[in-house]
Amino acid sequence: MARQQPADLMRDFAYPLPMSVLCELLGVPVPDRDHFHGWVQARMSDDPARMMAAAPSLLGYLHQLVEAKRRTPAADLLTDLVHASDDDGRLSPQELVAMTFLLLVAGHETTVNLIGNGTLALLRHPDQLAALRADPSLMPSAIEEFLRYEGPLNTASLRYTTEPIDIGGVTIPRHDLVSVALASANRDDAHFPDATRLDVTRTPTGHLAFGHGIHYCVGAPLARLEGRIAFTALLDRFPEIHLACDEGDLRWRGTMFRELQALPVRFSATP
Ligand code: HEM
Repeated sequence: MARQQPADLMRDFAYPLPMSVLCELLGVPVPDRDHFHGWVQARMSDDPARMMAAAPSLLGYLHQLVEAKRRTPAADLLTDLVHASDDDGRLSPQELVAMTFLLLVAGHETTVNLIGNGTLALLRHPDQLAALRADPSLMPSAIEEFLRYEGPLNTASLRYTTEPIDIGGVTIPRHDLVSVALASANRDDAHFPDATRLDVTRTPTGHLAFGHGIHYCVGAPLARLEGRIAFTALLDRFPEIHLACDEGDLRWRGTMFRELQALPVRFSATP
């Protein structure tokens, strides 16, 4: 990222970091990573044709990778999942590949957006950026505040009601579709005083960025750790960092993800 001015923080920092972490975690061999990264990105693209074309390649690769781990077990999560499937029978072969796919979808784009949205929030609020630089012990609460203030996901996955339910004076009938607006709940003044204000010193307990209940994000501790490492490195390496476009020129992808298409930045870098 430091090699060019302006840099696109999404392309040059936010995307590669979680992808490398997932490859390490799953045990994707280094020579395969560029291909793998390309398929995952295409799979997440806004272009349906590109997205459809990538699916068979990615699934084909995941099947091959599972076979490779079966032949040569290694100290990685995919080997453990193969073990859970072959030896313990806890995952069918299809579930094994589906779970790997889910980890990729759930673990990549979300963490990318934590880094992108958190950085934009700081660039838009120089006082908060200065406060965080002045007191790095605020980092854990700042990460929670980024997740609350502009979280990576607008909504959770869709739910269906199994019985009628009353929420806020509205009855949702049985067998109806429910979309849970995580981003809206996270700006609820009744729970977070002055909720539209970014405040890296608040401790925003009870935010819904990682969901709630039985499907609460299994990767939350990893995402928090990646966030802490990413923002600490970013602030250390770049003593000055600014937006390199008008705020009005920033574009968001229109999906369940709250995701910037690009985040152009200028900076001064330490060697
Ligand atoms: C900042 C980053 C992340 C955010 C904001 C996030 C958010 C969420 C949310 C909201 C859910 C619940 C969805 C629902 O109930 O409909 C979820 C579930 C899940 N997340 Fe994350 N996630 C993040 C990072 C990760 C990472 C790094 C991994 C794994 C490497 C991961 C794996 C999963 C999985 C497997 C589930 C499904 C859990 C289940 O259904 O029981 N997530 N995540």
